[in-house]
Amino acid sequence: MTSTTYAVPAGELDVAAFPPDFAWGAATAAYQIEGAVTEGGRGPSIWDTFAHTPGRTVRGETGDVACDHYHRWEQDLGIIGDLGLRAYRMSVSWARLQPDGRGPLNPVAVDHYRRLLDRLAELGVRAFVTLYHWDLPQPLEDAGGWPARATAERFAEYAGSTVRALGDLAQDWITLNEPWCSAFLGYGSGVHAPGRTSIRDAVAAAHHLNLAHGLALAAIRRERPEAAAGVTHILTDVVPASDSPRDLAAGARYDANNNRMFLDPVLRGRYPEEVYELYRAEGLPELVRDGDEATIGAPLDFLGINHYHQVLVRHDAEEGHLRARATPAEPTATSLRWSVRPESLRNVLVRVGRENPSLPLYVTENGASFEDYVDHSGRVVDPERIEYLSGYLQAAADAIREGVNLRGYFVWSLLDNFEWAEGYGKRFGLVFVDYHSQARIPKASAAWYRDLISRHARAVG
Ligand code: FCB
Repeated sequence: MTSTTYAVPAGELDVAAFPPDFAWGAATAAYQIEGAVTEGGRGPSIWDTFAHTPGRTVRGETGDVACDHYHRWEQDLGIIGDLGLRAYRMSVSWARLQPDGRGPLNPVAVDHYRRLLDRLAELGVRAFVTLYHWDLPQPLEDAGGWPARATAERFAEYAGSTVRALGDLAQDWITLNEPWCSAFLGYGSGVHAPGRTSIRDAVAAAHHLNLAHGLALAAIRRERPEAAAGVTHILTDVVPASDSPRDLAAGARYDANNNRMFLDPVLRGRYPEEVYELYRAEGLPELVRDGDEATIGAPLDFLGINHYHQVLVRHDAEEGHLRARATPAEPTATSLRWSVRPESLRNVLVRVGRENPSLPLYVTENGASFEDYVDHSGRVVDPERIEYLSGYLQAAADAIREGVNLRGYFVWSLLDNFEWAEGYGKRFGLVFVDYHSQARIPKASAAWYRDLISRHARAVG
């Protein structure tokens, strides 16, 4: 496994495979771009607290200023218009809309997001709004955080109020972004906010996040029956390192924890037996009350899939509670050493698509970080990103040709931004951000993506 399967020259991508109304987009998240963390009545979130705790992020970087998008949003939406994007996935900040995590919405925040969504509509760009991209209001963490069941109820109230306040301006709503990360990175390994390290807490967080999704879905349906609602999961392509029974079993445990613990309750209305087995000692069976699985499994309008990783998994008795060692599949050509294996996107899409043939799917994030820089002529030339995106999009095209109901694709990310614990050093944007001047410089990949979108329009038009 040393070469990528798809080395697709950008011009040869099978654009005709994508349906005419395909949602070509890019994605961002509030804490990663907004800054202005004490303005407009915003309260602190777990990410403010975490990033300000020494030793938690690279170089102690925080989202205090980030891309200053809170002040520069009109310019950034202008870039979206220039690129010809059909869709934009953004998140709204819970700590901005509801600083205490409960009660009426903050009118300054509502007004801010209404103006932003209005402008997107004027540009003809379809907004996909994520309600939770990891910025839990700090008061809710102080009251127990995601391991506390009450947090799921708070989230549903916030979701209902937000969709009531903004739902006339956006059709597509995503409850949660990657609850696996919130639960297992936030409460298990502690590398993300709030930085707790207890598998028991991570398991409780996972169930309450799943429940939060289900309760929020019901709240959205009550407020706006016409809205399209879904959830975004990060799906990892898990490849057992060998055919030995022990490696196969390790792969199955890893898959159960990373993928099925979130996919199955949402799509099949129950946790798989493997997940109950993995987490019996952590109390999962007692956490799941009567009716929870039915709430979580209520029908979705679409599923969002974020995809970055293919991992090789082998049995290792010393390796954590999963007894599984995962290594990124080669090549790991990005600046985060993440795998570049385009066929892995096809694999996860076909896996979900086969089991749920009529469910619309969106790739709500895919992309890569590289060592981008401004050259002597003031340009940012990023051929690696163009190669990465064309390979993964060809894999998406192949999945569509195999019958997968894929309706859109969002590059992570529109802008370089605050990459969580990694800080500002990892650049994922189509647009370069100079954090000293806040200048935006569209990279070569941005021009490539714009041309791809118009080539698709000509091919299907
Ligand atoms: C995903 C996150 C997103 C970004 C990318 C690189 O897991 O949803 O915010 O950090 O990874």
